[in-house]
Amino acid sequence: MKKRLTLTLAQELSKNLLKTKTDVLVVGVNEGKALNADAKKVDIATNGSIKKLIKRGEFEAKIGQSVYIATNDGSSADRIFLIGCGKSSSNLDSEDMEKITMSITSCLTSKKSGTGIISLPAMKYASSDHNDAALLQKLSCSLESKAYTYDAKLNKQNKTINYLKKVSVVIESKESLAKLRRGLKIGHAIGQGMNVAKDLANLPGNVCTPSYLATSSRSAAKNYNKLSCRVFGEKEMKKMGMDCLLSVGNGSAEESKLISMNYQGGKKGDKPYAIVGKGITFDTGGISLKPPATMDEMKFDMCGAASVIGTMQVVSELQLPINVVGVVACAENMPGSKATKPGDVVKTMSGKTVEILNTDAEGRLVLADALTYVERFNPKSVVDIATLTGAVIMALGYSTSGLMSNDEKLAKDLLLAGEKSSDRAWQLPIWDSYQKDLDSNFADMANIGGRAGTITAACFLSRFAEKYPWAHLDVAGTASYKGAAKGGSGRPVPLLSQYLIDKS
Ligand code: BES
Ligand code: MN
Ligand code: ZN
Repeated sequence: MKKRLTLTLAQELSKNLLKTKTDVLVVGVNEGKALNADAKKVDIATNGSIKKLIKRGEFEAKIGQSVYIATNDGSSADRIFLIGCGKSSSNLDSEDMEKITMSITSCLTSKKSGTGIISLPAMKYASSDHNDAALLQKLSCSLESKAYTYDAKLNKQNKTINYLKKVSVVIESKESLAKLRRGLKIGHAIGQGMNVAKDLANLPGNVCTPSYLATSSRSAAKNYNKLSCRVFGEKEMKKMGMDCLLSVGNGSAEESKLISMNYQGGKKGDKPYAIVGKGITFDTGGISLKPPATMDEMKFDMCGAASVIGTMQVVSELQLPINVVGVVACAENMPGSKATKPGDVVKTMSGKTVEILNTDAEGRLVLADALTYVERFNPKSVVDIATLTGAVIMALGYSTSGLMSNDEKLAKDLLLAGEKSSDRAWQLPIWDSYQKDLDSNFADMANIGGRAGTITAACFLSRFAEKYPWAHLDVAGTASYKGAAKGGSGRPVPLLSQYLIDKS
């Protein structure tokens, strides 16, 4: 994975905080109480500017608040920012930690700074899931992922440049150096994994095809000796009975692919955790054609796949002591003379038949066969990730992924991982009462039905995930941004990575 930043824990810097040359110095300040040691040094070196700002009410050190102080000869930093870290007695939760790290990140990336130093005071946390190592994890993740730029841009003129290259962190902490460094390293890897996912998401549909995803997974596997990759083409999938997956690519000239990645970090016999991604490299809707407005955004319909490819690299980079299988089901959904038509019936790898009433409900079709495929690994759990329904945006908006599961423990673990990594999901029910919406007169089930679009999509998938604890993440609202910020978000790489880290 490409590292955009060098990030180091540099506790010794505290001694020379104002003698070390840097473009920006970011100093965390506690609310109320006396200034902590590093803030005091800055205050003295800048003629009492911190105390003045506090006295004038311009800076209260509320959680996430930031203020700029112009520097003088007292410091070798070109710019200094103060960041509010809240009362030293306040118990920080995940959201507070996120506010603090986001604020630090904006200070470091707002100007053309190449180097930065961050000094943080002692903090108090709300629960044992939160600690200084976790704060450093959030910080390094946000710094690396905010340093992302899309370099493959076909028009060179618009090239955005990332200036920030090197950041050193010092924190007043009782936790071991090893733990703090590990936190920094984990976040850094997750940030890089998010950037891998963003790059794949941002490439146009004519470049990022199923074959492109296959090649890029293969070359990722070459970088890690515990990671391997196998790719199945249409002929091989036909042999395995994956007619349902194949039906989606029937109208496309691009060959559909099933990518199967294997990370062996645990013992040989350890059951693996499986993650399965929807990889529709472009979704026109097929014969049930989508309207033209914003159809370009359907190049993001492979974001589930991108998050799987990104997360497999995070796991490999961190050498987690577990086994993980990453499967990606890729196809391009196009209208064409061979395209699947509404009313067509196809047989899945499981033997169950599906009446395709709407060719735009294609994600569940590729996932159905991929979910049957992963049975062979006898997985401990299976999580699929898909930009599956527009309806999840109606339910949860653009900040929260939809989670549905046949296993309450797995659902709980994923919700917690999302909370911890600031990549949140919220659970929707998949009670039996919704299943009848998928009844068909001509096959075992239809591929659409009912008004609860996100839930019935998950109900459809649940029929192919009966043999293991399974969860489904609908990331249609969270995997990409709209408007001026249009582009991949790198989500839910943090949630998935955190879940796997928690399991190891
Ligand atoms: N890829 C879309 C879902 C989607 C919509 C993702 C908007 C991101 C933004 C999916 O394949 C789809 O078309 N779903 C249909 C399902 C319907 C036909 C039951 C939808 O949500 O409209
Ligand atoms: Mn669709
Ligand atoms: Zn789709």
